[in-house]
Amino acid sequence: MSITHKFPEGFWWGSATSATQIEGAAHEDGKGLNIWDYWYEKEPNRFFDEVGPQTTSDFYHTYKEDIARMKEIGHNSFRFSISWSRLIPGGEGEVNEKAVTFYNNVIDELLAQGIEPFVNLFHFDMPLELQEIGGWENRKVIDLYVDFANKAFGLFGDRVSKWFTFNEPIVPVEGGYLYDFHYPNIVDAKKAFQVAYNTMIANAKAIKAFRNHSIKDGKIGIILNLTPSYPRSQNPADLKAANIADLFFNRSFLDPAVLGEYPKELIDVLKEHGHLPTVEAEDKQLLKENTVDILGVNYYQPRRVKAKESLPNPYGPFMPDWFFDNYEMPGRKMNPYRGWEIYEKGIYDIMINLKENYGNIESFISENGMGVQNEERFLKDGRIEDDYRIDFIKGHLTWLHKAIHEGCNAKGYHLWTFMDNWSWMNAYKNRYGFFSVNLETKERTAKKSAYWIKEVAKNNGF
Ligand code: BG6
Repeated sequence: MSITHKFPEGFWWGSATSATQIEGAAHEDGKGLNIWDYWYEKEPNRFFDEVGPQTTSDFYHTYKEDIARMKEIGHNSFRFSISWSRLIPGGEGEVNEKAVTFYNNVIDELLAQGIEPFVNLFHFDMPLELQEIGGWENRKVIDLYVDFANKAFGLFGDRVSKWFTFNEPIVPVEGGYLYDFHYPNIVDAKKAFQVAYNTMIANAKAIKAFRNHSIKDGKIGIILNLTPSYPRSQNPADLKAANIADLFFNRSFLDPAVLGEYPKELIDVLKEHGHLPTVEAEDKQLLKENTVDILGVNYYQPRRVKAKESLPNPYGPFMPDWFFDNYEMPGRKMNPYRGWEIYEKGIYDIMINLKENYGNIESFISENGMGVQNEERFLKDGRIEDDYRIDFIKGHLTWLHKAIHEGCNAKGYHLWTFMDNWSWMNAYKNRYGFFSVNLETKERTAKKSAYWIKEVAKNNGF
């Protein structure tokens, strides 16, 4: 077999997860409640099949065997997140020693198996008590987050060198403050922009704190879901629509994180509509001085955009989608099992953009993956034959390889996700893992893609 797509030496092969989605043990060993535990108790019927986050994939108890499985399929790196409400129940105060033991065990086990831990600090899981005082709307929560980050750097920084402040910070903004799919289910664009802004201040402050810890080879980054915005046509109105979608959904996080400042065009639009967030005098300098070392890119699908067919209602609530309409491009390739577009070249376009406009910052694909509903339909002799996922990964890796060949600074590829997991309101609806999980017994079974990635990792290419 000849390898046509060889990746640079030391390329990171692995997968990504998050605490609430895999750990379970939501009420064990002193863990505090987060917004998901609470929201599920309050409104279980808003969750697919009414499945909540209490047990999920039980990683809290099975981490050792799961890490052995990672090793078996050739992972050299793995991303997980630390649950704030597990490490510091209530979000402020003393650390929970049982949580320290758990995360120490996970890190030590990964290292013992030759797998580098990539640790993320926040993946949608605000401690409930802090949401009750406004969550990211409240600047006090930023300081408590920095305290949490400092504690994590201090406890685990002797063994973990790759740190991330946030996963997809735009999602709690969209879900919690615009489109009602995360707690606190507020619909208020002004608050949404304040929350978005405050998370970027939290990002900068955590980076500043990180620099005071002397972590060997330490790097700190952020993980953003970047959705390239493609216009329907090259006519000016469509181009303008795509540009504004890019400003709201990509550059409002990418620019402050990597360049240390907000795009002027975005500030102008928010100013015009009276939606500028409240800022503090020292913020500008803080953002400028504390940019990321590394960028995680989550890429699932692009955004296709056209000019608004009718003018926005000036009396209706201000929303980003005032400015453009989504466009269903005829003939686009779809994932029929999740309803998302598949556009592999998007990964290349993102990388080229980072190279040309963001100083070719060190980056990696921190999530990419294919969700499938009712995946049991592909069971054959006890194993899920997910050839569609292999094609999906291969297609994206082909474009990533081309980008690297053209000088892009991409260092790795992590699939979403290691094993099927609990995905917020969608619970276990869409399966993404290299391993399937039996929800009754929690038994894991490798899918065909797990054997395939093992070969890819071994050959450092395909
Ligand atoms: C990613 C998130 O954007 O999408 C994950 O980081 C999430 O947390 C994943 O699980 C898949 O989402 P869904 O809705 O298809 O299950």
